[in-house]
Amino acid sequence: MVYDSRAEVHAERIRKALLPSGALRSVCSIETSEEGKTVGTVLELEDWLLRSGADRNALLLAVGGGITTDIAGFTACIYKRGIRFAFVPTTLLSQVDAAIGGKTGVNFRDYKNMLGIIRQPEFTYICPQVLDSLPYREFVAGSAEMLKTFIISGGHDYRRAVSILGEIWSKNGDFEGYGPDIQELVMKAAGVKAAIVSRDENEIGERRKLNLGHTFAHAIEHEARLQGRDISHGEAVAIGIVQAARLADEGFAEELKNDFDGCGLPTELPFSLESLKDAMTLDKKAEGETVHFIVPYAIGDVRIVDLTVEEAVSRLI
Ligand code: GLY
Repeated sequence: MVYDSRAEVHAERIRKALLPSGALRSVCSIETSEEGKTVGTVLELEDWLLRSGADRNALLLAVGGGITTDIAGFTACIYKRGIRFAFVPTTLLSQVDAAIGGKTGVNFRDYKNMLGIIRQPEFTYICPQVLDSLPYREFVAGSAEMLKTFIISGGHDYRRAVSILGEIWSKNGDFEGYGPDIQELVMKAAGVKAAIVSRDENEIGERRKLNLGHTFAHAIEHEARLQGRDISHGEAVAIGIVQAARLADEGFAEELKNDFDGCGLPTELPFSLESLKDAMTLDKKAEGETVHFIVPYAIGDVRIVDLTVEEAVSRLI
């Protein structure tokens, strides 16, 4: 089992539960950060697996947020040409997005998830109660991926989520645990994502919509790292969704912005669009000059629009 040191309390419970069966061979704790999400960390884990005597029947269980599950999944995919892996996501972001769908990988030369493989975990065990120990800022950041999913799926879930998240934000995160409403939203968002992935695992069509906001977000995160600014993935996704909506309709973008503001999410672009252009061009979703921009026209109406970065930015400036 590999776990994020911040998820120690949850990993310890799992360790105790597994001990009597003798199924748990070795435990390894890692410190996670976007900077540390590298091939170097993967190699350290490969070394640990080898030293622990993991054979091809081993199952690597990862406990933590999206960085942990992405790194651990990739480690398992290449160890002895692939061993089984499974996830216990402990952040909202990983429960509704990162730990579902089999995208594994690491950053490379400051570009997000540039190296990786799509391969499905043996299982993803979502326990919403673990969110109660999550720092509130991380909870809010994770909610951006949840809202993204509901913008894609349409129906009443988006409005319901905005209302519930807004209520939590109005209490400034000062409340007694996340109740059944949040648990239900987590399960719904996870279900929507799993269904999309089951229809298009390799992202040749519909799955691309799950990248809503991400072309802008990855560029924002890239620029933030260069400038030493603290902007998390979920926060960048919220900002990116608003920018993506501006490609369709300024009025709808404004509505989303107001909703996100009311949930405590950041929505203002922290850098000029001009300065984000190079990083957007290097997006994994680019094919030659063209990027598959994911553009929300309305709740439940999200389209894939092929544009060059130049075209997209000139529409927004
Ligand atoms: N995070 C988007 C996807 O898994 O497709």
